[in-house]
Amino acid sequence: MIGEGLWKQLSEKFDMEILTKIRSNIRPYQRLMSMYRCAIMEIETKLNVLNEEFSCAHDRNPIESIKTRLKSPESVSRKLKKHQLSFSLENIRNNIFDVAGVRVICSFPSDIYFIAESLVKQDDITLIERKDYIQCPKESGYRSLHLIVEVPIFLTNEKTPMKVEIQLRTIAMDFWASLEHKLQYKKTLPPEEAEEIRYELFECAVLSSSLDQRMENIKNKITQNSEKIK
Ligand code: GTP
Ligand code: MG
Repeated sequence: MIGEGLWKQLSEKFDMEILTKIRSNIRPYQRLMSMYRCAIMEIETKLNVLNEEFSCAHDRNPIESIKTRLKSPESVSRKLKKHQLSFSLENIRNNIFDVAGVRVICSFPSDIYFIAESLVKQDDITLIERKDYIQCPKESGYRSLHLIVEVPIFLTNEKTPMKVEIQLRTIAMDFWASLEHKLQYKKTLPPEEAEEIRYELFECAVLSSSLDQRMENIKNKITQNSEKIK
């Protein structure tokens, strides 16, 4: 089921306790991950449907792109350790809400709220948590709307609610977050220099936010104008 090469790689990354647990839980773990993949598919389809409907009505797509990811076993085990929890499927299900991740890149800030609201009001979606880092940006300058939702997946003999983390951002917010994440300056620079960079990145976040606002205003002017013509 799992080759020697892979075991060697795993044994370099994990301690024996986790390895033994993975060995005895590999099938159930794979099944759980497959269920998270199904939940991602459900959410992605819902987003594509909303995008399709909006583009039919307004002649433009509110969603630029959708990226999805399943948390790696390393990252799952790191997060459980951080919360001082043992490696079990139950602990993963009940404590890690971002195993299934969907990132939605929108054209304008107003599209983020439109898509988020349209999604959470669907009767099979349960909103678990909503963090608005656009209204209240993080200290770093980070902006995005984060939702944790529960979506049911329909399997052969059961219907199971699965948690999915959805991050909604504009292109500008994504540009900033991706580059800031790539820079990894916190670990490599001495504290004073890191502080300087932190401040500069914060300023860039403010600049990109005002760019978003200006683009939104331009879009509104154009829409109002074309409505007048109609
Ligand atoms: P964790 O999920 O454990 O990270 O903690 P949390 O749930 O309190 O965090 P939150 O929901 O606020 O954000 C989690 C995710 O948002 C991260 O994994 C990143 O993808 C993104 N994020 C949050 N803050 C920043 C930031 O300052 N910079 C960048 N680039 N991304 C961020
Ligand atoms: Mg989180």
